[in-house]
Amino acid sequence: MEIEALLRKSTFDREELVTLLTCKGEDEEKLFAYTKALRNQTISNRVYMRGLIEISNVCIKNCLYCGIRKSNVYAERYTLSDEEIIGAAEFTHRNHYGSIVLQGGERCDPTFIDRIENLLKAVKSLSKGGLGITLSLGEQTEETYRRWFEAGAHRYLLRIETSNEELYRKIHPQDDLHNFHNRLACIRRLQKCGYQTGTGVMIGLPFQTIGDLADDLLFLKELDVDMVGMGPYLEHRETPLWEYRDQLMSQRERLNLGLHMVSCLRLLMPDINIAATTALQAIDPQGREKALEIGANVIMPNITPLTNRANYQLYENKPGMDEGAEESTRRLIESVRKSGCEICGDEWGDSLHFRSRASEVKNEK
Ligand code: 5AD
Ligand code: SF4
Repeated sequence: MEIEALLRKSTFDREELVTLLTCKGEDEEKLFAYTKALRNQTISNRVYMRGLIEISNVCIKNCLYCGIRKSNVYAERYTLSDEEIIGAAEFTHRNHYGSIVLQGGERCDPTFIDRIENLLKAVKSLSKGGLGITLSLGEQTEETYRRWFEAGAHRYLLRIETSNEELYRKIHPQDDLHNFHNRLACIRRLQKCGYQTGTGVMIGLPFQTIGDLADDLLFLKELDVDMVGMGPYLEHRETPLWEYRDQLMSQRERLNLGLHMVSCLRLLMPDINIAATTALQAIDPQGREKALEIGANVIMPNITPLTNRANYQLYENKPGMDEGAEESTRRLIESVRKSGCEICGDEWGDSLHFRSRASEVKNEK
């Protein structure tokens, strides 16, 4: 089928998605132009900002791809103080970000759970409810998700990493802490607790096929999530998957495939929030802007205090290690404009998908 005919369709099967994910030259240009226009028509060219605070790199898990996995003895561990986290949140509030993301390694001990609950209340109170808060703190019980929701978090990111269970098993240790079904259950639990729920996958993993990525897109649609963050897999020397580095496609190819994934996801889910992720920027300094040009609408500048930032190395060559928060914000606003988008200030930036769902529920009552 010609690309024009394919783009006019309203549903896509695996084979059609494989065609779109691998299209080149003029077809690629047409796909990217189409999804940019679709984004602009459906949700406008306005981009939401989230201040990303990496609160700690202490993690109880051992994902085989991640540089801060528990067994990496070379990772220097840190945990930000309450003052540092609150200071970073105040910075975002002063600089009109509208919302923050608290991200960190996974922990589920009571001290940690209580601390997050208290921090959420503190951030809500310092901004008089003005700052939206997204959490990205891994798998938790329903009770914990509820407590954090009640304390003020309203969005949660938990990537499925891959929708292929067999591949999931290859990139994680085999135990209850790293179980595909538990992960999926957590995503559903978040939806049930009322969070705007975000998930995502890594692109270009060892053993992953283009068909797997097409399945990932269909999976995201089926799960009916409100937000997606996905980016290229980047090899890290101190991880078990380093062994397979020679089997990977080149980083350029992973970046290109990442952009195709963003574009195809916009085609499938026109009204969700899609992040232009840092991993895209790790390969190409303009990687995030390229994603905004073809359909992404969220950007998450890193505002972790500089002294700790270098230790949050999920992958090697993570960008922005030497820029202060003021500098990265200024540069970002400038480059977002260049990619044809406008920054929205002081807004939570909930996805239209979520807002439409919420009003449907209200009308049913
Ligand atoms: N390359 C790319 N992304 C990674 N993540 C973790 N390790 C890597 C890596 N080596 C991503 C995972 C995780 C998120 C916090 O970071 O998708 O969910
Ligand atoms: Fe921990 Fe997340 Fe890294 Fe897995 S990907 S080891 S859960 S920080």
